[in-house]
Amino acid sequence: MNTPIAIIGSGMAGLSAAHALTAAGLCVQLFDKSRGSGGRMSSKRSEVGDLDLGAQYFTARDRHFVDIVQQWQENGWLAEWKPALYQSQGGQLNLSPDTQLRYTGVPRMSALTRNLLGELPATFACRITEVFRGEQHWHLVDAAGQSHGPFSKVIVAVPAPQASVLLSAAPKLAASVASVVMEPVWAVVLAFAKPLDTPVEGCFVQDSPLDWLARNRSKPGRASRPDSWVLHASSAWSRQHIDLPPEAVIEQLRCAFAELIGCAVPEADFSLAHRWLYARPAHAHQWGALADADLGLYVCGDWCLSGRVEGAWLSGQEAARRLLEHREHNS
Ligand code: FAD
Ligand code: NAI
Repeated sequence: MNTPIAIIGSGMAGLSAAHALTAAGLCVQLFDKSRGSGGRMSSKRSEVGDLDLGAQYFTARDRHFVDIVQQWQENGWLAEWKPALYQSQGGQLNLSPDTQLRYTGVPRMSALTRNLLGELPATFACRITEVFRGEQHWHLVDAAGQSHGPFSKVIVAVPAPQASVLLSAAPKLAASVASVVMEPVWAVVLAFAKPLDTPVEGCFVQDSPLDWLARNRSKPGRASRPDSWVLHASSAWSRQHIDLPPEAVIEQLRCAFAELIGCAVPEADFSLAHRWLYARPAHAHQWGALADADLGLYVCGDWCLSGRVEGAWLSGQEAARRLLEHREHNS
């Protein structure tokens, strides 16, 4: 049996790389610090149903991604989401229909990544703190001090600020990754026992602390009650209010929501706030993936490309492609 490849991070990028490598007959072992897979595409279970706190939907523009999205749709892992879309600018709320295809996991965003995880070997609740190379193989150390290995190669598939500290074996690679800035986003959920009296189901927002809001029950497969909403603050507002207590974030974003939605907004019957420290790259890159191929260390993630779900998938594919190419040249 071949020595497995370690993949740190089981978000879309890590899962994409894992699929490409297992399809080529290689063994992988995934590690994630969270209790489950999905990363920024994960969903939170709550008393008001499953909530997509991170990625809300995704689009597919690259030909290969379009093909795989079609397969996932045929498998029943995702569906098209066709919200009544609005935009709010300068306090004016206007219908903003378009013909863009948008997809979401059903019945929650994390259903997609959970299906992609399938039977792949994975260790959860395991934060990797060190990645080092012995004479022949790679080894990982987790936050509890436990060692994992040996591995033939390592793919680091986590947000850039979390990746750079794992790359001390390849200082040049670490320096490139450390140059990537990622922006935070505060996400708030508000749920109302009595549905709000508005036709809005999704809204792109400008000139407000918010930059996006979505009505959960408009997404495919979600229960219709209570009427829960996900609000995302802009990165600028989130950065300025990064250490605000969650209750204060909820109150400020609730006020911003009430101001723009154009109907009465009572006190929410349920609310929560979640802070994403590394939500999106400040700038898009065209790296595909980064690597020190001779060493056997690869890095991927949405921040290597567009900072979107599609970018994460493409980056994972690129890391796997480069690994397989190098392996072939050296065999
Ligand atoms: P991640 O999903 O972040 O996966 C990285 C994984 O690595 C995580 O599971 C994490 O737990 C794990 N990890 C990190 N460090 C370690 C460590 N040391 N040891 C072990 N595990 C570790 N994209 C869209 O296309 N459409 C949207 O509408 C959209 N909205 C978004 C809204 C928000 C609020 C956020 C936060 C993101 C949004 N995105 C959206 C972006 C999208 O979610 C990401 O592009 C994509 O999910 C990134 O996948 P990834 O695999 O690169 O990283
Ligand atoms: P998309 O094509 O739906 O949207 C891209 C951007 O175009 C939107 O952000 C919006 O500004 C604008 N737009 C699109 N349709 C519009 C309409 N009908 N009316 C008004 N404006 C419209 O999706 P794409 O390119 O796949 O981007 C994914 C989404 O994920 C974007 O909304 C992006 O902002 C969001 N995202 C959010 C992150 C976060 O941390 N909050 C991180 C990464 C992506």
